[in-house]
Amino acid sequence: MPTGATAIMCPFHRDDNKQLSVDGLSLGAIAKQYGSPVYVYSAAGITDAFTRFQNAVAPVNGKVYFAMKANSALGILALIGKLGGGMDIVSAGELARAIAADIKPSDMVFSGVGKTNDEIRQALACGIGQINAESPAEVAAISTIAQEMNILAPVALRVNVDVSPSTHAKISTGQRNTKFGISTNQREACKIYQQMAEDPHISPAGLAVHIGSQIRDLAPFERAYSALLALAIELRDAGWPVPNLDLGGGVGIDYDTAGPTDFTEYGLLVQRLFAGQGFHLGFEPGRSIIANNGALVTRVIYVKHSDEKRFIIVDAAMNDLLRPTLYEAHHAIWTLDEPNISTSKADIVGPVCETGDYLGLDRDMPNLNAGDGLAILSAGAYGATMASNYNSRSPAAEVMVIDGTAHLLRAARPIADYINDEMVPNFAPISK
Ligand code: LLP
Repeated sequence: MPTGATAIMCPFHRDDNKQLSVDGLSLGAIAKQYGSPVYVYSAAGITDAFTRFQNAVAPVNGKVYFAMKANSALGILALIGKLGGGMDIVSAGELARAIAADIKPSDMVFSGVGKTNDEIRQALACGIGQINAESPAEVAAISTIAQEMNILAPVALRVNVDVSPSTHAKISTGQRNTKFGISTNQREACKIYQQMAEDPHISPAGLAVHIGSQIRDLAPFERAYSALLALAIELRDAGWPVPNLDLGGGVGIDYDTAGPTDFTEYGLLVQRLFAGQGFHLGFEPGRSIIANNGALVTRVIYVKHSDEKRFIIVDAAMNDLLRPTLYEAHHAIWTLDEPNISTSKADIVGPVCETGDYLGLDRDMPNLNAGDGLAILSAGAYGATMASNYNSRSPAAEVMVIDGTAHLLRAARPIADYINDEMVPNFAPISK
């Protein structure tokens, strides 16, 4: 198993007064200062996770590119950059964010199945380290643009090795029936790699694979990495340069305990397969670096008892954390104050007008009243980045605790800003 609680504790813990805290600061105090709901991150936790991932892949000289789709707050990107991380980006928007966070373009990998010409141009213009192409048409587009720009484009091929990662269907990417990568079947990937290597506008950068996310078993990684390695060796033996292998992200976390992820076994697997093989290795972890180092703090608005159920209606909603309803994801929900012993079942729901607007169903929760605080754990990854302003709700602020002090990373966007972005056409008078 790549995951499991280690000696390092969850960054969210009870202080001496039994208040849920991070790095000595109570989450209740943070919510008082910055408003509720609010995402709260632990800089110490992120530093610890990132450093342990780096150490786990250090014996094979692995370079870590944080998958910023998991969390793209500039403050977090800058912290990871300071720790020596590059970025895995998937759009011109993420490129702009990475540049704003002072990440060197040569430390970026551009992934994604549908890069537009404009995005390819921007990435090449700033000197991106590697573009992972996912179709023959995309390779052709990159080549044409590189020719126009009179540069050599560093392109790796993302391959589809047809491995099922045993995770939620919506975050599985490794099987043939998904839109991702170029099939290693029928020699397609080999043929395209050779064409790419012969292209005067492309510098072949190697191969990439990413089979899915929240993978808690090493076996699918082993199958996918072994297939990738076999193909890489075959291409290299045929005389083509294959400098880099990008092993993607996907290491799963423990959503029950919200504890830290142990990367030791994953690192050992990678060493066993790749040590001494002569490839530069890249990794793209997202969730395992940030998820359990962030919580969504919310307050109870009302408690309502229906015939069948107790509903705890809170001020966070599906627009702040889409995962429970989109993936049936389980996030631990803890009280900010000391929990009383007796609990009963409750649904923790938001104010949005949909039955799917919930953060947790059928949870054992203590007696709660309006104003009480809750933390939705493991919300550091795919929380703020998947937030929306549905129901015209203002996306929550993001705060990072660094050395016991809270720092605002992004203010809650006032709805007035959205309204100011909009135009009302001058309608012709309606004739009656
Ligand atoms: N590399 C590539 C090419 C990816 O597509 C992804 C995630 C990653 C790396 C990072 O994977 P991670 O280490 O975070 O598992 N919204 C979903 C997750 C979607 C993941 C998409 N790709 C969720 O909330 O579970």
